[in-house]
Amino acid sequence: MARRRKQCLVFAAAPRVLFPFLAWLFVLDLAWQCGAASPDADAMGDLARSLSGHPSSWKSGSDPCSPAWEGVTCSGGRVTIINLVSKGISGTLPASLGKLTSLTSIQLQRNSISGPLPLIGDLSSLQFLYLDGNSFDSLPDGFFSGLSGLQKVSLDDLPLAPWNLSQDISAAVGLEELSASNASLTGTLPDFLGSLPNLNLLRLSYNQLVGSLPTSLAGSGLQQLLLNNQKSRDMLSGRIDVIGAMPELIMVWLQSNAFSGPIPDLSNLTALASFNLRDNVLTGVIPPSLATCQTLKNVTLSNNLLQGPFPQFASKSVSLDINKGNNFCNSGGGPCDPRVTALLAVAEGFGYPPLLAKSWQGDEPCGNNWLGITCDSQKSIIVLNFGSQHFSGFISPAFANFTSLRQLYLSNNNLTGPIPDSLTQLPQLQTLDVTNNDLTGKVPQFSHSVALKLDGNPNLGSDSGSSGGGPSSPGTPGSSPGTSDQSGKSKSSLGMIFGIIIAALVLVICSVALFLHYRKKKQQEKFGGVPTETPPNEPTVVSIRSNGMNANGGGLGALYTQSSAESTSAYVVDAQGMYMSIQSLKTATNNFSEDNILGRGGFGVVYKGDHSGTLVAVKKNICDIMGKKGQEEFKAEIDTLRKVRHRNLVALLGYCDDGQERLLVYEYMPAGTLGQHLFEWQSRNEPPLTWKQRLTISLDVARGIEYLHSLAQESFIHRDLKPSNILLDKDLRAKVSDFGLVKLAADNQKSMMTRLAGTFGYLAPEYATTGKVSTKVDVYAFGVILMEIITGRKVLDESLPPEESHLVTLFRRVFSHEKDKFLNVMVDQVLELDEEAHKSLTEVADLAWHCTARESYQRPDMSHAVNKLAPLVEQWRPTACVDEDDGDSTLSLTQRLERWQHDTTTTTDSFGYTFK
Ligand SMILES: *[C@@H]1O[C@H](CO)[C@@H](O)[C@H](O)[C@H]1NC(C)=O
Ligand SMILES: *[C@@H]1O[C@H](CO)[C@@H](O)[C@H](O)[C@H]1NC(C)=O
Ligand SMILES: *[C@@H]1O[C@H](CO)[C@@H](O)[C@H](O)[C@H]1NC(C)=O
Ligand SMILES: *[C@@H]1O[C@H](CO)[C@@H](O)[C@H](O)[C@H]1NC(C)=O
Ligand SMILES: *[C@@H]1O[C@H](CO)[C@@H](O)[C@H](O)[C@H]1NC(C)=O
Ligand SMILES: *[C@@H]1O[C@H](CO)[C@@H](O)[C@H](O)[C@H]1NC(C)=O
Repeated sequence: MARRRKQCLVFAAAPRVLFPFLAWLFVLDLAWQCGAASPDADAMGDLARSLSGHPSSWKSGSDPCSPAWEGVTCSGGRVTIINLVSKGISGTLPASLGKLTSLTSIQLQRNSISGPLPLIGDLSSLQFLYLDGNSFDSLPDGFFSGLSGLQKVSLDDLPLAPWNLSQDISAAVGLEELSASNASLTGTLPDFLGSLPNLNLLRLSYNQLVGSLPTSLAGSGLQQLLLNNQKSRDMLSGRIDVIGAMPELIMVWLQSNAFSGPIPDLSNLTALASFNLRDNVLTGVIPPSLATCQTLKNVTLSNNLLQGPFPQFASKSVSLDINKGNNFCNSGGGPCDPRVTALLAVAEGFGYPPLLAKSWQGDEPCGNNWLGITCDSQKSIIVLNFGSQHFSGFISPAFANFTSLRQLYLSNNNLTGPIPDSLTQLPQLQTLDVTNNDLTGKVPQFSHSVALKLDGNPNLGSDSGSSGGGPSSPGTPGSSPGTSDQSGKSKSSLGMIFGIIIAALVLVICSVALFLHYRKKKQQEKFGGVPTETPPNEPTVVSIRSNGMNANGGGLGALYTQSSAESTSAYVVDAQGMYMSIQSLKTATNNFSEDNILGRGGFGVVYKGDHSGTLVAVKKNICDIMGKKGQEEFKAEIDTLRKVRHRNLVALLGYCDDGQERLLVYEYMPAGTLGQHLFEWQSRNEPPLTWKQRLTISLDVARGIEYLHSLAQESFIHRDLKPSNILLDKDLRAKVSDFGLVKLAADNQKSMMTRLAGTFGYLAPEYATTGKVSTKVDVYAFGVILMEIITGRKVLDESLPPEESHLVTLFRRVFSHEKDKFLNVMVDQVLELDEEAHKSLTEVADLAWHCTARESYQRPDMSHAVNKLAPLVEQWRPTACVDEDDGDSTLSLTQRLERWQHDTTTTTDSFGYTFK
């Protein structure tokens, strides 16, 4: 400065000494320095006036450059830098800021400047714009347009009105750092971020961004990517594969978002130091490239849905937070069980869906209700059922590793790619069902014993493209794999059609004969009378066939035989895998000792047993008494339980049929039935269920039934839902049991006539009068159960006057016409209800009311009931973020356990296991 002043004096004293040519250039410049005000004086004066608390040298009217104001740097009489970091300044920025066209740097961070940011698009020389930590309230549209020289921008911690990154930033091709965390940024991450060649820092944490990482980031030179803690409802989501293609990354902070899918291969990231992805929904196995990365300093991956072996990190100095809230198969490192490894390879093919990641916990796929998996008693996987799960991706060749696999269901998904050749090597495979996907390629040559179901894959097997024939025969691959579509000769296909027609005729004739035979036997039975022993206080089981139905005999017979033929074959196939010897069951139950009896019902006795260390419930049917009917229900139950697996359905562990005895072995449910807890708690000397427990049980039941109705491979109808068929585990979580009457709903026609079966009180009106059964029959029964849960009263109570003895009628009347009395008259008086509980109880009552609507079409679907109940149950959870499906998450489980232990300490083993 001093030097410049001296120069100034010299030149001012003798201006004419200079070369006239040069003089013209210099005069202009020097004049400003030596007296005439800087052209920026007015704009700077505005700025000084609109800011308060600025340095005292800021006097409007004075020249900002000569002498330069504190914090102002000039060059050639123009203001180039304004630096007022942390000066306690308030006020606003005037629009005339945009006239300071020589500015290269604006540094105003950590003050209290407020108001809108002005448009400063003329500042094309501006390289550094630091505004973070102020109180600006808005950023105008087009703010960045014209600012093409920007290199570093910081807008963190500004209470701006919502704004989004618009195209105008992309003109700043030299941009190196863009930082706007906690700045109300909305919208998505634009693609152009990937085309800024110099961008090395992108920090947009704590905003309301949504959408996914742009794929354009692949190959970018970004070193620091910080997008953590988005506060929008949906947060940032989608897969993070693009990270694997950003080789310069040092710092990856994506925690507290909704990113999903697996962690990609990171072997191209040679400088990665900080990898923060906790609190997302990542799935899959941690790639070896992360664990072996030597540069890592900090890795957080807790609270995802990661699976596979617990990673061992190569870098010694790394700080880790990965063990909480994931589903690693073990905690000490080392490989997973080979079955788990193969299952994870299967899941990888599907892109590691969260559904599987949530269900597949631990290192034992058998006996823990792993979704889609059925094992035999040797813990070999014999059925894999991934039907109707909205899975995409491909069929993993790793399926070939399940050498005991008999049935593989992949129908109704979005799978692409070929059927792997390796599947032909499965020695036991009986069924491969891939209907309704989008598979391509040639169908491998399976052995003739494999039933292939390939329909609904328009591009499968058509690799030859020009497959001559008629356009109307694209999906020829039927159930005969050996004869691929080479038989394109119209003559032979004519023969085939004939063959099919004849076969169909024979089948129909056989069916009719079978049906007639069956009906005759049935009628004999009806008159003979089946002695059924029902426990006292249990409503009677009805087994009626209405004569009116015979008018529909043909249709009914066809339906019935069709489904029973199907189930018999399936049963024969599968049942072998779960076979348990009578000897082992005798040992388990202490030779069916009286002391082990859990309960008895019309169709058998249920014993508690210890089957090589596993507590089981063994249901023993009495053959000679039961005859054909028992056999059917036995088969029906195996058949159903074979196909359905869900944490809210009691799992079948095995069965035994040695000609004399038929036994079914289930998981043991230590806390007995819902009926006992609702109606017999006093005599059993137990505390009554609290409202929270009742709510949770309701949701459990709804989930189990919803699964039966719509999520399982095929749609099932339970037909005999009642509190004595709802069993509770030690945590008082509910599972639906007793599938003896379950019916398979015909695929596209979920309503059919059937033999009436079920329990009085729980029968839907249309079912009781016409025998017409649909999923709504279960919805009705569920509604009745909800009423019993709310009132603590049985649906039929003969001790009451007739007008009050039918709970459904009374409940509906009071609920719709005398609502003010409802809480006092109808609600179980042992419930202690606070205001919130009142509210949820009213909602459940409303649900019960709808579920028991007279007309089946007025009843909601079971999924509606789940959606209604889930939020009510979640209100009761200590942490709102825990998904109900994550019921096993350590925190809530421990808390729940503590709470329930308190309630159940008095529960002894002396409960009944009532099967009808
Ligand atoms: C976000 O910015 C506001 C000011 O706009 C500040 O008060 C707050 O502390 C910031 N929050 C975080 C998490 O930094
Ligand atoms: C920016 O916001 C506007 C208005 O909210 C919206 O229409 C637009 O899609 C957003 N752009 C991006 C890239 O999110
Ligand atoms: C790593 O970089 C190489 C060379 O650019 C590329 O061929 C390879 O696909 C990259 N790997 C990943 C996982 O992106
Ligand atoms: C690791 O990163 C997280 C950011 O999520 C940070 O909070 C933590 O302090 C870091 N730990 C170490 C040891 O650097
Ligand atoms: C499948 O089995 C083969 C041979 O036993 C083994 O090498 C391979 O690792 C297995 N694959 C998976 C995914 O388990
Ligand atoms: C299959 O994928 C398409 C497009 O990704 C989607 O529209 C469709 O709903 C999916 N179908 C199923 C059954 O998930």
